[in-house]
Order: sequence, then C-alpha cells, then structure tokens
Amino acid sequence: MDEMAWLRLLDGIAARILGLGDFSAGLMTLRSLTPATPRGGAWLPVQRHWPAVGAEDELGRQLAALGEMLGEGWRQNPNYRAKPPSAGFLDNYGYLECAGPEAPYRSPDLRLGLLLLGPNTLYPTHHHPAEEIYLPLGLGRWWKDGEGWRQRGSGDVIHHPPMCGHATESGEAPLAAIYLWRGEIAKAAEID
Ligand SMILES: [Fe+2]
Repeated sequence: MDEMAWLRLLDGIAARILGLGDFSAGLMTLRSLTPATPRGGAWLPVQRHWPAVGAEDELGRQLAALGEMLGEGWRQNPNYRAKPPSAGFLDNYGYLECAGPEAPYRSPDLRLGLLLLGPNTLYPTHHHPAEEIYLPLGLGRWWKDGEGWRQRGSGDVIHHPPMCGHATESGEAPLAAIYLWRGEIAKAAEID
C-alpha cells in the first residue's frame, strides 16, 4: 500500500471543492485517520470496470493507489438489493466506501467513496437525507430535481442538498464518480 495515497486523494478532492466549506472541513478530519482492517465483502460484477474506468482522472488514479486496503470494501445499497430498479442493475452498480462509519477509514460523520456504474446503465431518481457532492471521473449524464439532465465530466462538482431527487446515467463507457456525504449519513438512499 502507498502510505501517502490517502493524503494525496484528500488533497486532490479538497482542491476541487473549494468554496464548499462544510465538506472541506470534514475532509480535514479524515487526514488523521489510519485504516482499519477491511472487512471481507463479496466481489461485485461491476468491479470488472475498476480501476480502468477512473484511470483518466488523477483522483481515480489516487484512489486506485489505495489498492488492496480498500479492495474488499465494495457494497450495494440494501434497498436496491431487495428491489432492483431494473433487470441487470445489480450487475452494473456498486460503490466502494473508503471513509464512513463502517469503512476502513472510520469516520462517524462523513462518508467518502466511489460510485461505479457499468455501461448503458440508468441509476434512477433517488433521494436521501444526507447532503452530497459527486466528483465525476469521466463523462456521464446527471439529472437533478429542478435542473433536468446535464452532461457532466471530469472536473465538475455536482451538489445535491438533502432529499433532493437525482439520477445518473452512463453511456457506452462505464461511469465512476467520487462521492461525499455529510449530515444525516446513516439513512441509505431510496429510489423515488
Ligand atoms: Fe445521492
């Protein structure tokens, strides 16, 4: 494991979210954490796209440098596992939580992770009480209540206030995005 990779990742994220003060302050608290032993998790089909999908964005390469430390941290929202929004969704959706209450970097009040979608996958409109930021690592379509669909790419910052409906759709290529959650982070997202 690259011992400096975590700090480089946090620095890289902080540089992209300047002006979002509460998230920036939360990121600072993650700097002093040391990783716990990752819990074992099942290999998810969507992992076939990682880390190739994030390799063109520096943040993706920094996250990949964390390597085995996060290798077993892939998860799927239990609400979606219980009731998948479409056929094939669970083969093309998953997230890797790096920091959070149950993640290798134990953080009680901020989540930091990676969302991954396979190609041609719609992650339909959903909502959650946590405030959220997405940093896409490549091109994709993003929908937000009140704004409609927009093409977003590497370097963009997408902000979702608490309970704001939003959706994401990949194109021919898979889609990866770093996410941050703050506020009411205990409650999982629900499809609208
Ligand atoms: Fe979200």
